[in-house]
Amino acid sequence: MMSRKPLIAGNWKMNLNHLEAIALVQKLAASLPAKYFDKVDVTVIPPFTDIRSVQTVIDGDKLLITYGAQDVSAHDSGAYTGEISGAFLKKLGVTFAVVGHSERRTYHNETDEVVLAKTKAALKHELTPIVCIGEGLEIREAGDHVEYNVAQLKGSLAGLSADDIAKTVIAYEPVWAIGTGRVASAADAQEVCAAIRGALEEIADAATAASVRILYGGSVNAKNVGELVGQADVDGALVGGASLKPDEFATLSAIA
Ligand code: G3P
Repeated sequence: MMSRKPLIAGNWKMNLNHLEAIALVQKLAASLPAKYFDKVDVTVIPPFTDIRSVQTVIDGDKLLITYGAQDVSAHDSGAYTGEISGAFLKKLGVTFAVVGHSERRTYHNETDEVVLAKTKAALKHELTPIVCIGEGLEIREAGDHVEYNVAQLKGSLAGLSADDIAKTVIAYEPVWAIGTGRVASAADAQEVCAAIRGALEEIADAATAASVRILYGGSVNAKNVGELVGQADVDGALVGGASLKPDEFATLSAIA
């Protein structure tokens, strides 16, 4: 089986101003010696308004941490007030763009079609989309979570070539686990991540499916990350709350 380097991604959501962002990245860098980056990729995903500051620290100190954006417009430029284009993000040295986070699906009514358009925009501008999927509590309790996630995945990647799918990262974030302190069990995370890999094989091919990194997200912390990332199909974590605490985020990156 192809080996996949774990990815730990810290989604800051709408937290930290640019001065706080600089302080966090500096603290994080001090706790993560360069040797760790042979074994794990670490990225921070700040609000748009912090990206330039984060870039300055990372470039200035030649850090191995990368950075991403929490969203990307489906459009390239023009009359789209409030939107941020993939071209702008690329120019700022951004590596990853989160698309389809459940908070955007829920509060901004983003459908699989919108997520697909944003995934395509990210790929067009050579950003790595982190495509998020995940079921709500009712679906989990009804036992329909595997089918639901596979359908959301297929909708969010519909029509993409195997080459394009190989350039994505998938994040499985059960909505009931986000910000609740109720983490999925390692077996639950593995069940869905394995089904995602199976679906990737179906819509692309075996080599592509084996190469794509699949992250788990939802109440990940330094105590539970080891067991989660130890699962065969879980290749890292998309971390919210714990990514705002530099010591904990550094520890969980080191564990991964
Ligand atoms: O994108 C990360 C996320 O939604 C999980 O948040 O706070 O439960 O780690 P949290």
